Amino acid sequence: MSRIGVLTGGGDCPGLNAVIRAVVGRSVEHNNIEVVGFRNGWAGILDADWVALDRDSVRGILGKGGTILGSSRRDPYVHAGGLADMQANLDAAGVDRLIVIGGDGTLKSAMRLGHEGLNVIGVPKTIDNDIAGTDMTFGFDTASQIATDAIDRITTTAEAHNRVMLVEVMGRTQGWIAIQAGIAGGADAILIPEVPYDLSEIAETVNRRTERGCNYSLVVVAEGVESPSKNEQELPVDAYGFKRLGGVAYEIAPLLEDMTGMEARVTVLGYIQRGGTPTSFDRVLATRLGASAADLAAARTTGVMAALRGTDIVAIPLEEACASTRPVDPRLYDVAKTFFG
Ligand code: F6P
Repeated sequence: MSRIGVLTGGGDCPGLNAVIRAVVGRSVEHNNIEVVGFRNGWAGILDADWVALDRDSVRGILGKGGTILGSSRRDPYVHAGGLADMQANLDAAGVDRLIVIGGDGTLKSAMRLGHEGLNVIGVPKTIDNDIAGTDMTFGFDTASQIATDAIDRITTTAEAHNRVMLVEVMGRTQGWIAIQAGIAGGADAILIPEVPYDLSEIAETVNRRTERGCNYSLVVVAEGVESPSKNEQELPVDAYGFKRLGGVAYEIAPLLEDMTGMEARVTVLGYIQRGGTPTSFDRVLATRLGASAADLAAARTTGVMAALRGTDIVAIPLEEACASTRPVDPRLYDVAKTFFG
């Protein structure tokens, strides 16, 4: 019996369950193919930890955050020897095709397994919205909305206390959440990894606002901007060697305080952005991507990723998605800058 395997890898993201539900629903009800879910990303294949998924096992999960399959950063090439260490367990599960829902690291491993001969389909996932080849990733809309709501709330307390408020959002190498939520929340400055920042310019913006009688400022900081005091090597890593970011705004705040004479406070949004229920946009995008991946797997297509292009879902080579990351459009940053200060 030939079955499709599905797994979720890397950091979780609102909408993962909607993809799993769509993969299962479409495969079982429409394409007449069984589905097996591997638990905790690649670890589920390496450790022979899987579960049969039928229509009933994916009921009630569409709007639920996280992933019913669990996730991890274990990698088949960093922590094992690639397909050779997986084939026996894939055979035991009766799986000859794999739908891999993940971010850049997970998709790169899927691509390599495809090169080794495994039948693989990728589905791009990340709140960071930084995967090349797709116009948007699911989870980004939810995370940006959460960050916008936080900025709205923090702005009112900034105004009440005459403070500079720094709101740190996720975004390792690209500042999509920062730019989206920053524009939506009317930020007075937005720091993103793609654009080098100058603290004296931000201080000038804050001071200019004070001169105009506006005694508070809102600064959005992407977690991946350059640290003013630490170098890359000093960053802590997790059990899988993945750099742990978060907290750069705490280094920036006292410097701004010194330069402006105003009290500066920090809120790091962290995992709040990644947890909880997805927006309707993310649920629909995730459902469309999952259904498309199921159809591609049914047709035994391999080495591609389901992607959003304009309003269409298309299949693009995994090579294209893995060749680079997708930076913030400079035109978007230019629009944001109009309202700095
Ligand atoms: O890649 C998505 C992401 O949410 C990043 O923005 C963040 O730096 C990272 O995951 C955090 O991951 P972890 O769960 O390993 O702390």
